[in-house]
Amino acid sequence: MSPGARERCKALRAEIARHDYRYYVLDDPEIPDAEYDKLMAELRTLEAAHPELISADSPTQRVAGAPSAEFGEVVHEVPMLSLDNGFTEEDVEAFDRRARERLGESGALEYWAEPKLDGLAVTAIYRAGLLEQAATRGDGFKGEDVTANVRTIRSFPLRLRGEAPAVLEVRGEVFMPLAGFERLNRRNEQRGEKTFVNPRNAAAGSLRQLDPRITAARPLQMYCYGLGRVSGWSPPARQSELLQALKSWGLPVCPHSERVHGVEGCLRYYRAMGERRARLPYQIDGVVYKIDRLADQERLGFVSRAPRWALAHKFPAEEAMTRVRSIEWQVGRTGAVTPVARLEPVFVGGVTVSNVTLHNFDEVRRKDVREGDTVVIRRAGDVIPELVRVIEERRPAQARPVALPKRCPVCHSEVLKPEGEAVARCTGGFSCPAQRQEAIRHFASRLAMDIEGLGEKLVSQLVESGLVSSPADLYGLTAEQLEGLERMGEKSGANLLDALERSKHTTLPRLLYALGIREVGEATSLALARHFGDLEALIEAARSHPERIEQVADVGPVVAAELRAFFAAPAHRELIERLRAAGVRWEPLAAQAAQLPLAGTTVVLTGTLAGMTRHEAEQALSALGAKVAGSVSKKTHYVVAGEAPGSKLEKAQALGVPVLDEAGLRRLLEAHRR
Ligand code: IVH
Repeated sequence: MSPGARERCKALRAEIARHDYRYYVLDDPEIPDAEYDKLMAELRTLEAAHPELISADSPTQRVAGAPSAEFGEVVHEVPMLSLDNGFTEEDVEAFDRRARERLGESGALEYWAEPKLDGLAVTAIYRAGLLEQAATRGDGFKGEDVTANVRTIRSFPLRLRGEAPAVLEVRGEVFMPLAGFERLNRRNEQRGEKTFVNPRNAAAGSLRQLDPRITAARPLQMYCYGLGRVSGWSPPARQSELLQALKSWGLPVCPHSERVHGVEGCLRYYRAMGERRARLPYQIDGVVYKIDRLADQERLGFVSRAPRWALAHKFPAEEAMTRVRSIEWQVGRTGAVTPVARLEPVFVGGVTVSNVTLHNFDEVRRKDVREGDTVVIRRAGDVIPELVRVIEERRPAQARPVALPKRCPVCHSEVLKPEGEAVARCTGGFSCPAQRQEAIRHFASRLAMDIEGLGEKLVSQLVESGLVSSPADLYGLTAEQLEGLERMGEKSGANLLDALERSKHTTLPRLLYALGIREVGEATSLALARHFGDLEALIEAARSHPERIEQVADVGPVVAAELRAFFAAPAHRELIERLRAAGVRWEPLAAQAAQLPLAGTTVVLTGTLAGMTRHEAEQALSALGAKVAGSVSKKTHYVVAGEAPGSKLEKAQALGVPVLDEAGLRRLLEAHRR
């Protein structure tokens, strides 16, 4: 054996144990993971060269032994009891009152308050400081021998630090931290393996593996909270000091426990943990109050299977089961058609939930939710309730998959769901009461009909008062009607009527854009107007010749489908007639193209812009009549140079073409928009 190999092994083990302690117990790691891994690698190499140096408490020996056929049985010398549950403040008060009466205590009691970890109870026996045996709780009297698995939990020390008692049996909770749980489920999903319903099931499933190598790969943790059998040591006076002692032996204890004073202190802790709950790195289902003085604990003793000196104060359950009465579709203000599950009301996360959004059709399909299904609903903290999953075993025989409605539930217009998109939409626009307000606001906006002074608030007043339900109604408004509105004087009423009058003289691209046809933005409106010249030709093509629409540059089948659906609705054609009858006139593009402010201007873009995509910049420029060219020549009017411009910038400089930065481009667009 090379001189010093034994010494080096010892030193490495001590060093690794110290880092484990800092990491798992003090939560204060000293070195990066990679450095730790180097120490482990060195120890492994050394042990491989000198197998006689391997000891059971070496950190390389966490996974030891072959898979077993079954778990051995372990009898708990000190039974592993359970806790009484309380749900209300009155339950806590009653618990405290009983304890004080029995102890003859008139003042407030000191409690040790701990999170109630959502994992599984495990007991571990250390003899002369070495981990000898670990077992599950089982029925409280007999559990399963899970020593080989518990050894793989890195936060469980294989050897206690410092002076250890002859026998020390510690009890605590083995759990899976949330981050690890999510990682595990994501990995399992990718591999097509089964995922776990919650961290507690994942922890239990991981610990009850016959092959410890599987357990070793699972991110388990444990926090100690109590004792079993002890010999060769007298426990201190208080629960708080006991945990301190466990910690000094290198056993991890929960960092979020604290000493509290009386019922008031307990309830304050409960509320504080309730608020922190969603941000904790592990799942808890309540808090536990334990009388801090161990002598008092002893005097109180046990009733049946739970101590009189402790109470689990549970949080309202975050998950509950209920039945889906029906699945309905709601239309949002932008026309999005959203499925909502109507539930048999269920109390979950502290509130009664009777509806839950299913977000979109793809989600309904993915979860395969059907009317009549029994489902799990989750509501954590202030979070919006969600439907977690369907319990397929309880599905009624007649339940059928949900279909996307073909017609809008509000206005009966066609519903479209473009290929590859999650959201289905009502094509009703103005004719759909659900979308009316938003559609009218868009109609009036600056790049559309540009009706000055007709902002969001006024639109909502007009719609809510029933004066306007279609853009055509705007042109029938009278001064008297406007004066009746809140915060609307004679002057502003007259101004609005003027603005409406001015907006009657517009252009085809503006009108098209104002109609708010989905997928038909500023640039597409312009392209369509250029191509078809007048509205009738476009409507005709939309209805009977979609291929003609698809011929327009940059316009594909998606736009064609939207146009077809839009002009198929009689309400939309009626709207156009009414606008015409009200005196709205749109100039065809031929006469108008040359009038666009940047007509005849050629612009070249190079580099990346910070605030807009290249496509957006091109659209904005072409909407103003500019031509966006691909290369710089003497005829180029401007080169717009963003971040990391290419050779086009050099060429522009060589040719003396004016160069704009992003701010310059914005000024150019702004200056010509009106
Ligand atoms: S003390 C006699 N403290 O809750 C004392 N238990 O409902 C028994 N648990 O089996 C346990 N966090 O699995 C205690 N801070 C905590 C706990 C805790 C979770 C679990 C444990 C126990 C169950 C009883």
